[in-house]
Amino acid sequence: MKKKKIALVGLGRVSQRHLDALEANKDFLELAFVCDVDRNRAEEAAKKVGAVPVADIREIGDVDFVSFATPSGLHPEHVKLAAKYCSAPGIICEKPIALTVREAITMYKEVEAANKRLLPIYQNRYNPLVMHMHQLIGSGKLGKIYQYVMNIYWNRNDEYFNVDWHGTLDLDGGVIFTQASHYVDMLQFFFGDVGEFHGVGGKQRGFETQDTVSAVLAFKNGAVGSLNATVSVYRQNFMTEFTLIAEKGTVRISGTNLNTIDVWDVKGIEKPDLSFVTEHQYGRGHDTMYRMVGEGNFASFPDKKDVLAGIGIMEKLSF
Ligand SMILES: NC(=O)c1ccc[n+]([C@@H]2O[C@H](COP(=O)([O-])OP(=O)(O)OC[C@H]3O[C@@H](n4cnc5c(N)ncnc54)[C@H](O)[C@@H]3O)[C@@H](O)[C@H]2O)c1
Repeated sequence: MKKKKIALVGLGRVSQRHLDALEANKDFLELAFVCDVDRNRAEEAAKKVGAVPVADIREIGDVDFVSFATPSGLHPEHVKLAAKYCSAPGIICEKPIALTVREAITMYKEVEAANKRLLPIYQNRYNPLVMHMHQLIGSGKLGKIYQYVMNIYWNRNDEYFNVDWHGTLDLDGGVIFTQASHYVDMLQFFFGDVGEFHGVGGKQRGFETQDTVSAVLAFKNGAVGSLNATVSVYRQNFMTEFTLIAEKGTVRISGTNLNTIDVWDVKGIEKPDLSFVTEHQYGRGHDTMYRMVGEGNFASFPDKKDVLAGIGIMEKLSF
C-alpha cells in the first residue's frame, strides 16, 4: 500500500505524542512536512524526523493530510487556511476544533465546500475501556441507564499557565474546553443527545477562564448525572472517574486515563480483562487515530453532529 503523506502543524506540548504516534504508524504514513510559526521549533523537529520544515501553513507542499496541534482558538483560522491553500483532502484537528458553535459550523462549511474532510481528534474514544462501555450501553444489556458521575480532578501548575494562550478566553476557553472536552464528548458517545443541562464555574486561581466547573447534564436516553472538572488539584493529577448506575449493573472506571475497572457488578456479564497501564498522560489513542487515518478508515471519528453538540455544551458551560 502506498504511504499517505502528512504535515503536522504546531510543534508544542502535544506534538511529541503526534510524532510518536506517526512513528508507530510509519508503515502507513510518511511525515513529509512539519510546520510552526516558531521556525526554530519547525527546524528542530525536522532534524529529528527527516521532514521538510516550514513556518507558514500555505508553504505546505503536496500531502494527503494536514494535522493541527496549534492553540485551540486558532483552529478555525488554521483549518480554513488549510481548506483553501493546502492540497490535502483530509484535515485533522486537535480538540476542541473551536470555542464557539458559530466558528465550528463555518469550519465544516468551508472544508466541505473545498471537497475535503474534517477529522476532529477525541482520541479517548479509542481507549479500550471506553469502547467497551460504549458497546455495553448501546447493547441494552444494562437495561435503563439511571445515573452517572464523571469527575476530572487534574492539576495544571502555574508553569503550565505561563504559556501565553493558556487560561485565556480567546484561545483556551478554560477547563471544560481544554481538559474536560474529552469527557463531554465521552458522555455524548455513551448516551447520545443531551437534553437539559446547567453548570456553574469558578475562576479560583484568577485566570480569565474557569479552572473549576460543576455541571449537571440530563441526556435524552434518560441518564442524569454530574460532571466535575478542575485543573486546580494540589500538586498533581488526582484522578479521572466515570461511575454508571443502571438498571442491571453498576460500573466504575477510573485512573488517570480511565484505565482501571474498580467496580464491576453487571447482571450476567463477567468483569472484562481490560484494565491497562498507560505510560502517557494523553493515553495511546493518537496511535489508533493515526492508524485509522493511514488505513483510510474514518468511520470511528466523531461525527459533525456530536462535535457541534459538544461545542454547544462546552460553550454554555464556559462563557
Ligand atoms: N488530545 C489531547 O489529549 C491533547 C493534549 C494536549 C493538547 N491538545 C490540544 O492540542 C493543541 C495544542 O496544544 P499544545 O499544548 O501542544 O500547545 P503549545 O502552545 O504547546 O503548541 C502550539 C504550537 O502551535 C504553534 N503555532 C501557533 N500558531 C501557528 C501557526 N499559525 N502556524 C504554525 N504553528 C503555529 C506555536 O508556535 C506552538 O509551537 C490545543 O488545541 C490543545 O487543546 C490535545
